[in-house]
Amino acid sequence: MQEALGKKRRETQGGASLDFTTEGRGLTHPAGRRSRGSQIGCRGGCWAKMAAMRKELPRRLLGLKFLQAVSTSSMGTLPKQVKIVEVGPRDGLQNEKNIVPTPVKIKLIDMLSEAGLSVIEATSFVSPKWVPQMADHTEVLKGIQKFPGVNYPVLTPNLKGFEAAVAAGAKEVAIFGAASELFTKKNINCSMEESLQRFDAIRKAAQSANIPVRGYVSCVLGCPYEGKISPAKVAEVTKKLYSMGCYEISLGDTIGVGTPGIMKDMLSAVMQEVPPAALAVHCHDTYGQALANTLMALQMGVSVVDSSVAGLGGCPYAQGASGNLATEDLVYMLEGLGIHTGVNLQKLLEAGNFICQALNRKTGSKVAQATCKL
Ligand code: HMG
Ligand code: MG
Repeated sequence: MQEALGKKRRETQGGASLDFTTEGRGLTHPAGRRSRGSQIGCRGGCWAKMAAMRKELPRRLLGLKFLQAVSTSSMGTLPKQVKIVEVGPRDGLQNEKNIVPTPVKIKLIDMLSEAGLSVIEATSFVSPKWVPQMADHTEVLKGIQKFPGVNYPVLTPNLKGFEAAVAAGAKEVAIFGAASELFTKKNINCSMEESLQRFDAIRKAAQSANIPVRGYVSCVLGCPYEGKISPAKVAEVTKKLYSMGCYEISLGDTIGVGTPGIMKDMLSAVMQEVPPAALAVHCHDTYGQALANTLMALQMGVSVVDSSVAGLGGCPYAQGASGNLATEDLVYMLEGLGIHTGVNLQKLLEAGNFICQALNRKTGSKVAQATCKL
């Protein structure tokens, strides 16, 4: 039933939906160009299956009307619009062992811009000794097409990184702290207190250059070194970053261990200190909880969500962390809930397929996998 409901949604939902009614040989998007099955995450053979499936579909959808009554009414208040922060080019690629060629990174970012994402975290100005994959940060930032209205923030761990980012043309930066002492030490080689001093130096420089600063708090639902993290600790660090002037703070389940109840407790504590409008969630999907945790956050008033195309991702200093919530799956869920994203799902799937082929890797997006099977 669920599977059939998914198909029904793909047939009926507006905006980024996939159109099964179009004549001819392509899977099309109302606003996008025609694309072959092989362009959406399949290695071929999808096209014939899809054509057969399309004939099958009307029969399968009979009697599904009552299922559509699973509406948002029982889900509490949800935001009308969600801002997606695409972190694939940074979080998605930073953990890759083989160096991804710079032109591939640039093409991925351009395709994501083309797909309608309004925020794309492009790279990070960290030490190349620590994260070799991001060593081409300047070439990437200078090489991408800057689409009007799209932000391309970059990570900066210290003043050195900030200055290099600005010299490369960055218009927004992100600082990244954690609610765990041990993770902070492993990730950026300093104590939490020292990290705040470094961030303050970035904040001051950013303020005089009129550059907005986003903040990250990692390990909000658990730490690879310290285990459980108390919601009070997360609230304390988030409040510090907010008071420092971060306009938005992204709460990261870095190793993807959280469940919706823990997310609820954590957010309840954080929201005592920082308004929901200044919060984002960033869920890795190690235990398959990312979408459920994100939905909980949306129900609690968060309207900014980080995700990564094809579910790529991981942190080199958080062993066991798998990919992020896949952007394709997030867009599919949001569109199904009638929440506006501005993202063209078809073009997003093409971007996901492009990077998976470049990495010789299967997509981590369930939506990309399902679309391929149709
Ligand atoms: P350090 O070794 O303590 O730094 O590293 P240092 O100040 O002693 O400098 C050592 C060398 O690095 C020097 O070079 C510096 O010039 C150079 P040398 O003299 O040896 O030739 N250096 C730099 N080079 C380029 N850019 C810089 C820079 N800074 C120093 N900015 C440092 C400290 C912070 C640099 C290092 O620990 C580092 O780069 N860490 C980054 C780790 C990282 O990128 N982790 C992944 C991102 S966080 C994440 O993924 C979580 C998130 O997704 C949210 C979530 O999931 O929860 C955001
Ligand atoms: Mg992350």
